[in-house]
Amino acid sequence: PWDEARAGEIVAAHAALDGAALPVLHALQEAFGCVPEEAIPLVASALNLSRAEVHGIVTFYHDFRRTPPGRHVLKICRAEACQSMGGAALASDFLRRQGVSWGGTTRDGSLTVEGVYCLGLCACSPSALYDGEPVGRLDAARLDALARDARQ
Ligand code: FES
Repeated sequence: PWDEARAGEIVAAHAALDGAALPVLHALQEAFGCVPEEAIPLVASALNLSRAEVHGIVTFYHDFRRTPPGRHVLKICRAEACQSMGGAALASDFLRRQGVSWGGTTRDGSLTVEGVYCLGLCACSPSALYDGEPVGRLDAARLDALARDARQ
């Protein structure tokens, strides 16, 4: 949950760095699971930026989430080697079965599915990270197993 005092401490701890915006926003996301809307004015005033500028940074970088993720996060690689191994169709079928789009979270809140661009796991493409753990040689069955695991 949002905690203004805690957010203020996080912002203050990083505000003096060169190019502080990214470290501040990463630290906020680390703490809150996303960059909450409430954080934008706080960051803006600490870093002497406009709210629109901070907003622009948050939306430009795909790493930042605007809403908290599901209980588990699956990052599916969308870069070339994985695409060439059928990753695109695999992912779009999976998203359809789960009823989510890229960046979305299943209705039960169990799984957020995000796209990433090359995980350095090209040798066992199509690849993904499930809660930070590499998963390779994906197929529909493996993806469905991960979604089932997320629901448990
Ligand atoms: Fe997917 Fe490299 S392209 S891991």
